[in-house]
Amino acid sequence: MESYSLLLQAHSGWRYVVMLTLVLAILMSIAGWLGNKPYTPGNRKINLFALISAHIQFLLGLILYFISPLVKAGDMAIAMKSDALRYWTVEHTTMMLIAIALITIGHSKSKRLIDSVAKHRTVAIFYTLAFIIIIAAIALSGRPIIGR
Ligand code: HEM
Ligand code: HEM
Repeated sequence: MESYSLLLQAHSGWRYVVMLTLVLAILMSIAGWLGNKPYTPGNRKINLFALISAHIQFLLGLILYFISPLVKAGDMAIAMKSDALRYWTVEHTTMMLIAIALITIGHSKSKRLIDSVAKHRTVAIFYTLAFIIIIAAIALSGRPIIGR
């Protein structure tokens, strides 16, 4: 199979890993925050898995950016004229980058905190914002959130 469709399928399928680990991390951190619970090794792991999946998705997306026929970064005048080209060249990348940055910042801020509830709260807020942006970005694409 050619590398474009292989990467597109990998990036398309990997979204479920990102969304699933993100939702789990969010639910566990909200439970820890509201329930005043200790920050466990389980919390640390799921928060890290969500970060790593987001970074892997970023790497796949970055490579796709250079080979996708729907990305026309070299000619914005053409990209802006079509909704689909503009979406994949500008909106998708910008929104997803912001989401991944929020996950990365939330993770490292939480890591540096000592207090358990503060650690949970930081992950809960940053990861939830990121999740909302990811869902909004996929909804804007006109492609289904689940399935192709
Ligand atoms: C959490 C992060 C991300 C998620 C959940 C995500 C999700 C998706 C989804 C669902 C598609 C559609 C795939 C399909 O129709 O089968 C897609 C396509 C694409 N994404 Fe992402 N993406 C993310 C981050 C990024 C980033 C950071 C970049 C660029 C640096 C990027 C670049 C692209 C490109 C170029 C396409 C292909 C458009 C095409 O040729 O059909 N993505 N992404
Ligand atoms: C071009 C691609 C990538 C960029 C630009 C990037 C960027 C970053 C940045 C800025 C941090 C720092 C977070 C902090 O200060 O705590 C970080 C941490 C990390 N990234 Fe990435 N990353 C990329 C790809 C990946 C990939 C492919 C993986 C996994 C296979 C990965 C796994 C990690 C891990 C494990 C951490 C450390 C988390 C911790 O603090 O314990 N990253 N990355």
